[in-house]
Amino acid sequence: MATNTDSTQPDQDRAVDPLTPVLTRRWLAPRSWSREVYEQQGGYHAMRLALLGREGEGQSAAHPDQLIQLMKDSGMRGRGGAGFPTGMKWGFIPQGDSGPAAKPHYLVINADEGEPGTCKDIPLMMADPHSLVEGCIITSYAIRANYCAIYVRGEALHCVRRMQHAVNEAYDSGYLGRDILGSGFSLDIVIHAGAGAYICGEETALLDSLEGRRGQPRLKPPFPATSGLYAAPTVVNNVETIATVPDIVNGGSDWFRVMGREKSPGPKIYSLSGHVAHPGQYEAPLGTTLRQLLELAGGMKDGVPLKFWTPGGSSTPLLTAEHLDVPLDFEGAAEAGSMLGTTALMIFNETVSVPWAVMKWTEFYEHESCGKCTPCREGCYWLTQILRRMVAGEGTESDIDTMVDVCDNILGRSFCALGDGATSPITSAVKYFRQEFLDLCKAQPAVPRPGQLNDFVGAQ
Ligand SMILES: Cc1cc2nc3c(=O)[nH]c(=O)nc-3n(C[C@H](O)[C@H](O)[C@H](O)COP(=O)(O)O)c2cc1C
Ligand code: SF4
Repeated sequence: MATNTDSTQPDQDRAVDPLTPVLTRRWLAPRSWSREVYEQQGGYHAMRLALLGREGEGQSAAHPDQLIQLMKDSGMRGRGGAGFPTGMKWGFIPQGDSGPAAKPHYLVINADEGEPGTCKDIPLMMADPHSLVEGCIITSYAIRANYCAIYVRGEALHCVRRMQHAVNEAYDSGYLGRDILGSGFSLDIVIHAGAGAYICGEETALLDSLEGRRGQPRLKPPFPATSGLYAAPTVVNNVETIATVPDIVNGGSDWFRVMGREKSPGPKIYSLSGHVAHPGQYEAPLGTTLRQLLELAGGMKDGVPLKFWTPGGSSTPLLTAEHLDVPLDFEGAAEAGSMLGTTALMIFNETVSVPWAVMKWTEFYEHESCGKCTPCREGCYWLTQILRRMVAGEGTESDIDTMVDVCDNILGRSFCALGDGATSPITSAVKYFRQEFLDLCKAQPAVPRPGQLNDFVGAQ
């Protein structure tokens, strides 16, 4: 991870070198997770700017609508996978004294992080939890919410504790609770631990889970902006999205747009796992290529060539060595036939069997399918059966067409994006590596070589 622990300089000066970290700049500081260190490094300055203005310089507090406009101007797009414009999402919250607007407004942070390969939000919360707390305060003020819930993946108990500690510190400092720093604005933050279901990362399933129900996606519309938590106006945003907000308030929209590309501006945390020399989190501007990221990560592990990779988790179609120079932003990944997703780059060298890897991912989707809709519930089950049979060397050539046909019946016909995501590894693998599936039909089982699985797991 490239990190600059000297972050006392103003944010505006930091955009000169595109690899100067913004989001991760505090991560290597001793006790980076404490309020004291966060404040020593400029933390909670953006909150003061938003809630109080520039004291002594005659600049009053920001109007909530100014903050929404700032986010729109910055071009910030959500970092949870879909890349929805953040300012636009905040702007959907109804304002006024009647109808849904009269209900309490809520901010919900999606810290469920369950997509295979995705591992950026938990490191962010562990190393820099106050950036998320500060982002929550500013966002809640902008959308006129007095209650915020942070929904953390339950298995990450260490992270739940780290976030709870940061929230407690913020209360003790008067940054949370009633009348924050005399601004007249009040906010409570609750840390909620999930129970380990991937589907609870889908924003409406998450809301059901928060309300104490079984986590299953809701029919949309109505969208959370008008009918979210407890049927009230709600913004659901990813951890990285909201942790970026203080930097945008400090630096301004023009500064933010210096990084990244026109339609995908800003810095991004890319998570590299698998067969790379130095797996980890690498911050770089959106639009950075895998070739450039591999240079930062020391290249392929032991020099064994790249075979395939995912740009943003297992739900994003596979890419190959031909795609090393694809700009990894929302447009670039889409033009290459994939998706940016969560910028979780799982990297596989040429020792790995593609059908075997695809089978492991499909088993995951089958296990995590919530069962609400038939295409995903039944389709993921049958895809797993076919893949297991093929990998065992007992498949037939027609199995490949059957798999593609089942995928066709899931994609676009499922109730939520989990079903669509389950088809991505299969259809992209057949597109680029059809011959490997055909070879299996000649009864050559794709069992991992001795030690291969351990090699891979050990590399993460
Ligand atoms: C099955 C599934 C799992 C998801 N898991 C997550 C997750 O763990 N974290 C996340 O931020 N978004 C996740 N999402 C996307 C959310 O539904 C939502 O788009 C996101 O939280 C919005 O935040 P953003 O606008 O800041 O990107 C998931 C979506 C699906 C369909
Ligand atoms: S697509 Fe899958 S996870 Fe989504 S609602 Fe249907 S069964 Fe549930």
